[in-house]
Amino acid sequence: MTDNRALRQFLRLMSASGISHLPTVTLPKLAAAPGKLLAARLKGAAPSTPQPPARNKSASQTQLLSPDRLVPNSAQRPEILESTRSLLEQTFHTAEQQADGLSKLAEAVSACKRCAELADTRRQTVFGVGNPDAEIMFIGEAPGADEDRQGEPFVGAAGKLMDKIIAACGLKREEIYICNILRCRPPGNRNPHPQEAANCREFLDGQIKIVAPKYIVVWGTVAAQNLLGESRPVGRLRGQFLQHGDAKVMCTYHPSYLLRNESAKKLVWEDMKFFMKELGIDLG
Ligand code: URA
Repeated sequence: MTDNRALRQFLRLMSASGISHLPTVTLPKLAAAPGKLLAARLKGAAPSTPQPPARNKSASQTQLLSPDRLVPNSAQRPEILESTRSLLEQTFHTAEQQADGLSKLAEAVSACKRCAELADTRRQTVFGVGNPDAEIMFIGEAPGADEDRQGEPFVGAAGKLMDKIIAACGLKREEIYICNILRCRPPGNRNPHPQEAANCREFLDGQIKIVAPKYIVVWGTVAAQNLLGESRPVGRLRGQFLQHGDAKVMCTYHPSYLLRNESAKKLVWEDMKFFMKELGIDLG
């Protein structure tokens, strides 16, 4: 285990134990080897180091967010479920173990009633979908009506647009792991309450821990602020890589926003080119 990995594991354990005041640490640049599943695609492509210059900030100055910033506002994290705690303590060496870990976590999610309003109004929980061993994870905000009906993230209009973005990048939906900050639909598609995000956080943390993506693309301000404990809007977070645990994080606009603001599509395309360049793929 490298020193960086050990440090991150230590910080996560501290965070899970409720220790909340540690200084923000700037990490030395990670050696970014091409991922297993993208390896074939990346064959012959430029290696992802050296990093492309970030537009707002040097990519090597990725940030390790201190645990006190993981839960925004004053929302309280509930006591972690025993089943989640034991999953968070395990290591997952094979895709089968990862798939098994995710299905155990999904089972706990389907029984969750921490958010009374959401549990009362949902048709079903929407856990996550995709490759349990993905290099890339997408994180959105919360399921909408279509997702609540079908039990899968990003299957409605926003999801169709996301599918087009995925295809334009030369990726396949099945090679990505897709989930949300919340696993239940907020009634009327309102924004998640901070307490709901805090209630659902252990499930998101579990998915990140099990899938162990190298990259996370965060879609929209709500998802970005919740994942990173940030208060800046996505317009100020995009154009750089942030660090969350072992993953490099890129924030961009939510596809629902693009459906209402056609002109933002070119900004998302810029972001995706920036992201793919990090993977060694030049989209021009
Ligand atoms: N919007 C999201 O943020 N997530 C979904 O799953 C669908 C729409």
